[in-house]
Amino acid sequence: MRISGGTQTLTVPVADVDLFAADFYATGDPHPVWAEMRARHPLHRQELPDGRTFLSVTRYRDACRVLGDHRGFTSERGSLLQQLGHGDRAAGLMLVSTDPPRHTELRAPLNRVLSAKAVRDLEPDVVRAVRRILRPVLDHTEWDLADCVAQLPMAVAGTLMGIPETDWAQLTQWTAMAAAPEDPGLCVRHPAATLAIAHHGLFDYFARHQRDDRCQRPDDLVGYLTSMLAGGRRLTPEEVVYNCYSLLLGANATTPHAVTGTILALIEHPAQSVAAPEALTGLVEEGLRWTSPANSFLRYARQDVELSGGLVREGEAVAVWVGSANRDEDVFVDPYRFDITRADNRHIAFGFGPHYCLGAPLARMTLTVFFAELFRAFDRIELNGPVTHLASNFIAGITQLPVLTRRRTASSREFAA
Ligand code: HEM
Repeated sequence: MRISGGTQTLTVPVADVDLFAADFYATGDPHPVWAEMRARHPLHRQELPDGRTFLSVTRYRDACRVLGDHRGFTSERGSLLQQLGHGDRAAGLMLVSTDPPRHTELRAPLNRVLSAKAVRDLEPDVVRAVRRILRPVLDHTEWDLADCVAQLPMAVAGTLMGIPETDWAQLTQWTAMAAAPEDPGLCVRHPAATLAIAHHGLFDYFARHQRDDRCQRPDDLVGYLTSMLAGGRRLTPEEVVYNCYSLLLGANATTPHAVTGTILALIEHPAQSVAAPEALTGLVEEGLRWTSPANSFLRYARQDVELSGGLVREGEAVAVWVGSANRDEDVFVDPYRFDITRADNRHIAFGFGPHYCLGAPLARMTLTVFFAELFRAFDRIELNGPVTHLASNFIAGITQLPVLTRRRTASSREFAA
């Protein structure tokens, strides 16, 4: 998705924009559309050619209300736009597709192992993983950052889950296909077929992984999922599989795009200085707001609910546009300015309310380490060709980011194998 200022004049009326179309996010720029929606159509209805309809909320306040109010809005009928009208087979089984109180039971034991405190201990491993990923490009001056960073989540979350390295590439491919089945680089014949291949591959993989005695390690995340108690009982094998899928998709679909989008923003805003070590925290947070990689989530109204833009009727599907909420001028000063020193950055890139990203501490640490190591390795990073954007209404991403880099002479020792 192109990230522009939201002040450009719209060439088509909002009513004619297809917010559902994956291609819009590969070739178009939703920001001027969202700016117009926040101002004049804060509860916007779209009907698809097959008759399915959904409402869109674009204001920060409405986004937080919908995501934060599980009594008013359920996650159990599908939480992604691509599921619109299809329901969710994982309802009540997978964390992200489950409402409280079962959600609270599932989430509590997982919070313990992925808390900021627990994640801090993993930092040396993440530094090692990042250096391994950067090592092959160190001596290159021209390379693709999107390509390089695609491996990052597997090296972190995959390791944590105890997934053998030989399987990382295949799992990365399947999760990318599951997140963006319409993208031409990922689509196999048809988006529905792509989704089916990816889901079958991932579910089958985790079902086998779980049964394989050689993979039973109590100290990894899959072992933990298998043995933990949620609401006084162990998870069923089906619940374990669904939650492995969710953890991996959560990590793989988002983290690389936060990296590429942030580096592109830095390249486009050369006045922003990352020289001071404390600048990295601001860079990570502003990068998350700016890129909002998890761009949209879906909920269904369980009852009539009044939002700032109007009334949502019971049973209606509501898409929350995170990328828009994170540019709301009522909340963010000068929202179209990329500013890593931004003082009040209450972005909702990790969501809001009960489903607030479980992996947020791990993602924040991974991003901080990656940027620190990238700047340790290179003192110059420039754009070296056209940027390609992901075709997806779910993930705001970059599939190609060619860069021209200059290596720091002093960086050899840290990156030695
Ligand atoms: C930059 C990186 C990431 C971003 C932007 C992101 C974004 C989000 C968002 C917006 C949600 C809320 C979903 C909803 O409301 O329906 C979410 C949930 C979730 N994320 Fe992340 N995520 C990131 C990284 C990760 C990582 C690294 C993991 C795994 C370790 C992960 C696992 C999950 C899980 C399991 C949920 C469901 C939580 C629940 O339902 O309680 N995410 N993520």
